[in-house]
Amino acid sequence: MIREIESYLKLPLSELTPDVIKKVSDSLTQSRKQNFNHVGDDLDPELVKQIKDLSEGRQIESLSSWEEAQLRELGFWRWVAFSGYNNLDPRCFPLHQRRHMLGAYSRTKWSVDRFANGNIVEIGCGPLGMISHLSTRFAIGFDPLNKYYDILFRKARGDTIEYVSDLAPVLEHKKEFFDFAICYNVLDHTENPREIFDQYFSLIKPGGEFLLQVNIMDQTKPRSELHTRMHPSPMTVDQISNWLNEYSEHYTTHLSDKLSPDNEYYFMAWGSKSES
Ligand SMILES: C[S@@+](CC[C@H](N)C(=O)[O-])C[C@H]1O[C@@H](n2cnc3c(N)ncnc32)[C@H](O)[C@@H]1O
Repeated sequence: MIREIESYLKLPLSELTPDVIKKVSDSLTQSRKQNFNHVGDDLDPELVKQIKDLSEGRQIESLSSWEEAQLRELGFWRWVAFSGYNNLDPRCFPLHQRRHMLGAYSRTKWSVDRFANGNIVEIGCGPLGMISHLSTRFAIGFDPLNKYYDILFRKARGDTIEYVSDLAPVLEHKKEFFDFAICYNVLDHTENPREIFDQYFSLIKPGGEFLLQVNIMDQTKPRSELHTRMHPSPMTVDQISNWLNEYSEHYTTHLSDKLSPDNEYYFMAWGSKSES
């Protein structure tokens, strides 16, 4: 674990303010080593070279569009591990992520202990997904990049979550097993969002709950080339709503009214899977 931030990770969301995180970051910066990963280790040099090639505009012809998006995604998270996020010391990334994830979760008005005796799964959990900030009896975080996140964020990931890079065994043994399933900022990053969406819902018990978040592109605004390359499957609100209606009769949605700098609207839906 990252010793320097351990006590701050126990703060309730109301006390984990941007000012508090900034102060922790400022105090850590003095002991920060350049080109050093304070939150884990580095990736294999060959993989680092491929990430660098892409970021410097050298295409790798053998990659499919999804593989390229994933390599760019990994490059982004490696940058977070080495350089920090939001100009914060990289060791503060877990605090930033906790604030962001619990802030989003709090929109549901559900308590953080709601699933304390239940089973939770997160699809596309990233290095420190929402799952790592909720109390639970049993938790699985799936992400195709988990084997790399395990290296880059070794000291930031606890041992209470089972992180897997392959969903097939979970789909085989744990269908309709989970009380709560999270999928946060993932579907537009996948090559086949409908398939992932169906797999996600297949893991939830009838009557179990879900939280789904997707960034929606404003179709009338331009997309940067990098955004296009990192998001192979842009989604619309109608598309997601139609899919959700197949699985749920009771859910609530939130759609931001402001565009992000990437011309995206923030969409989140939460509710329960139908009983039948
Ligand atoms: C923008 S990141 C979000 C990570 C995390 N949910 C968060 O918000 O911090 C998108 C994630 O989707 C994952 N992803 C891409 N394709 C996927 C797929 N087919 N199934 C599940 N996850 C996928 C990526 O590996 C990446 O970790």
